Amino acid sequence: MRKFIAILLLGFLIPPAALKAQQANHFFPEKDLVTTGIYYYPEHWSEAQWERDIKKISEMGFEFVHLAEFAWFKMEPEEGRFDFTWLDRVLSLCAKYHVKVLLCTPSATTPTWMRINYPETFVTDGHYIRAENGTRGLESMVNPKFRGYVKRIVAEMAKRYGQNSNVIGWQIDNEPGAVSDYSPSSQEAFRTWLKNKYKTVDALNTAWGAAFWSQWFNNFDQVIIPNTNLVGWWGNNPHALLDFKRYSADAQAGFLDFQADVLRSYVSKAQFVTTNYTAVCTGSDPNRTGKLDFATYTAYPNGGSDNIGDSGFRLGNPDLVLFVSEYYKSVGGVSGVMEIQPGPVNWGSYNPLLLPGTVRLWLYHSFAAGGKIACSYRFRQILYGAEQYHSGVIQTDGVTPSQGGKDYMQFMKEITELRKKFTTGSKTPAKLAARSTALLWNVENYWSIDRQRQTGQWNTWDYPVKFLKTARSLGAPVDVIEETADLSKYKFVIVPAYEMVDSALVKKWNDYVAKGGHLIVTCRTATKDRRGHFWEGETATPISNLIGAHIGQTDMLSSYGKGDILMNANHYPWHSWADLLVQDSSTEVLATYNNQFYKGKAAVVKHRIGKGDVTYIGVDTDDSKLEKDLLRQIYKDAGATTEDYPPGVFVYWRDGFYTALNYSSENYTVNLPENAKFLIGEKTLKPAGVLVWTE
Ligand code: GAL
Repeated sequence: MRKFIAILLLGFLIPPAALKAQQANHFFPEKDLVTTGIYYYPEHWSEAQWERDIKKISEMGFEFVHLAEFAWFKMEPEEGRFDFTWLDRVLSLCAKYHVKVLLCTPSATTPTWMRINYPETFVTDGHYIRAENGTRGLESMVNPKFRGYVKRIVAEMAKRYGQNSNVIGWQIDNEPGAVSDYSPSSQEAFRTWLKNKYKTVDALNTAWGAAFWSQWFNNFDQVIIPNTNLVGWWGNNPHALLDFKRYSADAQAGFLDFQADVLRSYVSKAQFVTTNYTAVCTGSDPNRTGKLDFATYTAYPNGGSDNIGDSGFRLGNPDLVLFVSEYYKSVGGVSGVMEIQPGPVNWGSYNPLLLPGTVRLWLYHSFAAGGKIACSYRFRQILYGAEQYHSGVIQTDGVTPSQGGKDYMQFMKEITELRKKFTTGSKTPAKLAARSTALLWNVENYWSIDRQRQTGQWNTWDYPVKFLKTARSLGAPVDVIEETADLSKYKFVIVPAYEMVDSALVKKWNDYVAKGGHLIVTCRTATKDRRGHFWEGETATPISNLIGAHIGQTDMLSSYGKGDILMNANHYPWHSWADLLVQDSSTEVLATYNNQFYKGKAAVVKHRIGKGDVTYIGVDTDDSKLEKDLLRQIYKDAGATTEDYPPGVFVYWRDGFYTALNYSSENYTVNLPENAKFLIGEKTLKPAGVLVWTE
């Protein structure tokens, strides 16, 4: 009875997110640090080679094999006839060679019989053309027939493998992306979604601003999915499109939760249920799911872009792992990489060789950011098909490790060494705790702003990421969090371009500041309500008291314009966005516009409330130096020390280990305290270099 009361009390005391995090954590013993795995598609290879391949996977050091992701055709070759004998054989080989198994539900690709018998189970695009089978993710997730077939195959798999102690967990689907679906099933589901949300058609008309351009509806049956393909860009209704995005994300999340429910009726509690979102995932919203244990991500940092310095095109874009490794933790408290690029891909604008060590750098990046899983697509490079040019960790001969394979083997060997050095209970070092920072992110703001950017110079994804990057370059640990998260854990909270708000959210920010928090709010925040409407009042009405200023007007420049900001006798260039601020008498002006016809107007202001303060950054600068100088000053004023890492150099701390990573094209020497003990690498990091140490 006492135990029961204790559990009950614990339930009240620990906030739900923290509870979920603890639950997700017990799939991954702390001392293991990170579990490594590899995608293997036995259905692509002759059965005579399976044993050789799995033995090799084991010898290379991989700890689990990722199976069955696109294998519906082989598990249900004819409608209603199941064949798992081949998969049984693969699973016994895995057991024989001591590699665990991660199974996937195969819903991202359907067998040919589905197209022939049920063509209506595919999505219809914005030109009302129906998709077919043969690629991924084009099934209509809201189609009841499709759901029925998914339910059946997932249940069959779960019944067969749900109690197998060598199976560690399940990945649902592949890279759930909330594809826009204009099929009849989706039109119907959208109308139902709207009815649930608005109850009356007049409420819908008001929310959508349907009086504009004669869009008014007399009843819900008249509503169709807004389709920019047919009305042109200028014909878009931003509020209707926002709802379509919300509906699509809900449908995606509902589809994942639906599969999670099917799995849960059969599988053991020891097996986790997850999915693998894409890194830059702007369609689906992981936080709309409620039934996954945690979320993982896929990361392809090198798709043919220049990046940092001369070697940047071989090293990849650091922002990917930087952002997503934090973002996906918001689902279940833990995360990890399900697919890390193993070498050149087939789809980049060009596909260069990676600098040797680059795959290891990415693996360490995910690890350093707390990753519990480090898995890669794919084991063997395939000899045929759309991805034949995509590298694997094993080359086309089926036996020789590629450079990516060698990088992986080195990483896995080193992790084994680090595990020996692991001690439980290490506490975040005080200097890092003093800089603890959160970045608020809500994909709905992304949808809304990206639809109405107002200037081609605005980059909707890069903008929040630049604050994460800047805070990290100052040595701050940064969590990417939802607006519902507990802010009191953080000394600093950054709210970048958080367009849609309500009064409860603004009050939450205000309370955080009054209690001593340091809030950094930036341009475009609170300019709209949750429907995407402007306020009947000045721009960003709800935050004018919070920031202690009024946004008079907003400017943006031509690409050859020369915007100049002045702060502490330093000049900073800008082009994309500039709020012209009128400060209240108690508000301090930190930076002003130094040219244009409004020279002297405030660009950045600071306002104190209770024990804390709010800095409002009304301008988006070209090189982010202003933002960096401001953040540094904010940390300093709050008594936190800072570092100054150059672009591409990142330093993390987890479980007692510091890790430094170098994505730049120059050597970088880490400034270490005398008590530092090197575990991996050297003090001077070459490009793609990694250093792990303890203090
Ligand atoms: C991923 C996908 C994999 C594979 C890979 C190729 O986005 O999940 O199945 O196609 O891309 O880079």
